[in-house]
Amino acid sequence: MVKICCIGAGYVGGPTMAVIAHKCPDIKVVVVDISVSRITAWNSDQLPIYEPGLDDLVKSCRGKNLFFSTDVEKHVSEADIIFVSVNTPTKTRGLGAGKAADLAYWESAARMIADVSKSDKIVIEKSTVPVKTAEAIEKILTHNNKGVNYQILSNPEFLAEGTAINDLFAPDRVLIGGRETPEGQRAIKALKDVYAHWVPEERILCTNLWSAELSKLAANAFLAQRISSVNAMSALCEATGADITQVSHAVGKDTRIGHKFLNASVGFGGSCFQKDILNLVYICECNGLPEVANYWKQVIKVNDYQKNRFVNRIVSSMFNTVSGKKIAILGFAFKKDTGDTRETPAIDVCKGLLGDKANLSIYDPQVTEEQIQRDLSMNKFDWDHPVHLQPMSPSSVKQVSVVWDAYEAAKGAHGLCIMTEWDEFKNLDYKKIYDSMPKPAFVFDGRNVMDPKKLREIGFIAYSIGKPLDSWLKDMPAVA
Ligand code: NAD
Ligand code: UDX
Repeated sequence: MVKICCIGAGYVGGPTMAVIAHKCPDIKVVVVDISVSRITAWNSDQLPIYEPGLDDLVKSCRGKNLFFSTDVEKHVSEADIIFVSVNTPTKTRGLGAGKAADLAYWESAARMIADVSKSDKIVIEKSTVPVKTAEAIEKILTHNNKGVNYQILSNPEFLAEGTAINDLFAPDRVLIGGRETPEGQRAIKALKDVYAHWVPEERILCTNLWSAELSKLAANAFLAQRISSVNAMSALCEATGADITQVSHAVGKDTRIGHKFLNASVGFGGSCFQKDILNLVYICECNGLPEVANYWKQVIKVNDYQKNRFVNRIVSSMFNTVSGKKIAILGFAFKKDTGDTRETPAIDVCKGLLGDKANLSIYDPQVTEEQIQRDLSMNKFDWDHPVHLQPMSPSSVKQVSVVWDAYEAAKGAHGLCIMTEWDEFKNLDYKKIYDSMPKPAFVFDGRNVMDPKKLREIGFIAYSIGKPLDSWLKDMPAVA
């Protein structure tokens, strides 16, 4: 029986390995992590992450050919194939701080592999890493060689949170990069055989190591660039009376452009886009390509601009002050169908409003109060350095209350902001909400989940990203 060990039981390691175990009953899969609480949760009924379809999948193979363990060294030493799926956050200090990927977690995993391995291993980069990381990993492993042969492969993950299980079951492509040597090609074949259990052969792309590593950063940069492009257009729509939904539809009808990923929003969030683009920018700078670096930097700048624009719109609409006013925040996760808040635009918007002394009442169906308070107390870039690896005692933000119902959040609020496109927000009784708010009552829809015309019919002053403004908002222009 082939033995797979995955180091890192996070948003990627957990779902990815559950799918491999489910699709490959002939393979034993063990997911290991240094976090005792995460592994305990993976072994319980309350999984550490919320992802549609994940519970049933884990239950179907846990204890059969899928295991979760903190005995990292034992399972690494026994494995034939080792996936490394640890976090690779943005560095917070030292050389490249605020841009470069922090490979400390990766390096410690590689050193541990070198320490405990007694048989040949295929070591797979599942984490998103800077191009050429495989070379560094190879050095760590081979310089500690005790007669063990290592083959390093790059197999970046393209799943998106909220749709991870579907993405893993039917990937657009699986990318495998390896050395162009006979040993490298053999390792590629071994990994290809795993995916071939359910992925059609034409969807498994094999490249050299550096192409695979760079393709992951490139794919995320292209995706994020589309969102910044549509968001930049949304500002122009508001200035001119065009409607971004109509513009996106018309643009996306061109088959060369396509309709996906053209939804204007308050800004993209999530643990990947910003981190990976910053990393790409840093790599370009290190390779003497400042023009290329500046080109990609602009994607992040437009995203920051969009979040600031949203906050400014709220404050300026409400007579240029939200001091002491209750504002309801519906949704805190960075997108629907996940409880993940890493780099969620809600953090920046909430911090912007708190800076203007608003009192926030926050509701999200999947995010805990503890998480929200921690996020709002955290410094930039600390978010993806897991709390269990970097203990800290967050001081709760006093102007924030977290409630478990959208109506409760809205009661007595001067304004209501939709920050995540949870389906349930589409079906709320907005008339009931309107009646519970002081007047004028405002809705700021950061995800375009509601029809602003319908909200205006109820009596709200409604703002939606990139949609024609109502007269109130035209009279109170937001300073960008
Ligand atoms: P995560 O923070 O959820 O999980 C990483 C896990 O690795 C943590 O539980 C941590 O405790 C563990 N870990 C760190 N160092 C370790 C070590 N030395 N030994 C054992 N365990 C260790 O991160 P994630 O969201 O799963 O992302 C992992 C990687 O995958 C990142 O590089 C990310 O960029 C990439 N990625 C993420 C997504 C996504 O949607 N989250 C998608 C594609 C790629
Ligand atoms: C992303 C990539 O899509 C995935 O391939 C990669 O493996 C990890 O990073 P993820 O961050 O989980 O996945 O979610 P995604 O669906 O890409 O959304 C990212 C952010 O962009 C979210 O905040 C989402 O709301 C926003 N978004 C997405 C928009 O604002 N408009 C869109 O049209 C699409």
